[in-house]
Amino acid sequence: MHHPLRAHICATGSYIPPRQVSNDDLSKQVDTSDAWIKQRTGIKTRFLVDPSQGVRGTVDMAQQAAQAALNNSNIDPKSLDMIIVGTVTPDQRMPSAACLLQHRLGATRASAFDVSAACCGSLYSLAIANSFITQGTCKRILVVGSETMSCLLDWSDRNTCVLFGDGAAAAILEPSNSPNGGFHQMKLYSDGSLHPLLHVKQGGKLQMQGQELYRAAVPTLVQAVEALLQEADLQPQQIARFIPHQANIRIIESIAKRLDVPMERFAINLDRFANTSSASLLLAWDQTCQENQLQPGDWVLFWAIGAGLTWAAGLYRV
Ligand code: ACO
Repeated sequence: MHHPLRAHICATGSYIPPRQVSNDDLSKQVDTSDAWIKQRTGIKTRFLVDPSQGVRGTVDMAQQAAQAALNNSNIDPKSLDMIIVGTVTPDQRMPSAACLLQHRLGATRASAFDVSAACCGSLYSLAIANSFITQGTCKRILVVGSETMSCLLDWSDRNTCVLFGDGAAAAILEPSNSPNGGFHQMKLYSDGSLHPLLHVKQGGKLQMQGQELYRAAVPTLVQAVEALLQEADLQPQQIARFIPHQANIRIIESIAKRLDVPMERFAINLDRFANTSSASLLLAWDQTCQENQLQPGDWVLFWAIGAGLTWAAGLYRV
């Protein structure tokens, strides 16, 4: 029977660097406290790269996450048609993290490039991979979100240094062989007029207007999610699992409330990993897959928002 070509995720993997930093550790560096950080953000710890332990940056972490996804699925890297890395912290200005990763993996047939969409990097990359697969141009694409946020932070600025962590996660996409499984609607948005809310100037450190960003994020995401659900003729309650970008638990709780969906439906990792930018959503998806919580036919909704502003929502069926 003929059915539309969809891309599904056939394998996942992730990598979290070894150095765990608690809120109490940070309170020795800046004027903050475990109670403040937990209450305002939900974050308890974050993990950071540690060159003395052999993990230096974005490509190292991307390689570990990608290798885990390849190993989990017994996929030969030479069979990859494309590698897309969502990152705003590439190790080098050029070439891309994706090209360095391609070489490390020995994925000699793959084209490779990075996507710069901040915390939306991996959802934008999934959408790009999805279109190459649904067009029939590629059969197997590796998508990685990998971020060394620690290199962008001003470690004396308590407004920002408590919020982020390092990490990487990967997903491999292939044409789905079930009629309805895989990505359905995906919607990408940007509004460059909001660039002052979160930015890193050339050679500088991350700067953020936290409250304005918070106020922009909630209605923007609710609107995007509602538009997506309406197009698919679904109610929020029909979504088995929400995979949100992990910036702040209060943003996720506000959206859950507006959609009238219980928090148990949400994958959460920001308590342990903080905001890992483009890695966060794929880390949450990898965790969900490992926990084996989903049944064939279940609906999953991904969303992300980040500097740009960029935001996106995607509907996926297991
Ligand atoms: N510890 C203790 N006090 C702090 C800290 C800290 N780490 N950071 C700020 N404060 C102080 C401020 O200086 C301020 O003090 P003042 O009242 O004396 O001026 C007070 O706490 C309140 O600051 P607000 O900024 O009003 O605190 P708010 O409740 O808005 O929480 C936060 C700040 C957590 C940044 C929140 O605005 C937020 O989460 N915004 C969204 C931003 C975000 O998630 N960014 C991530 C990247 S973007 C993305 O992924 C969507």
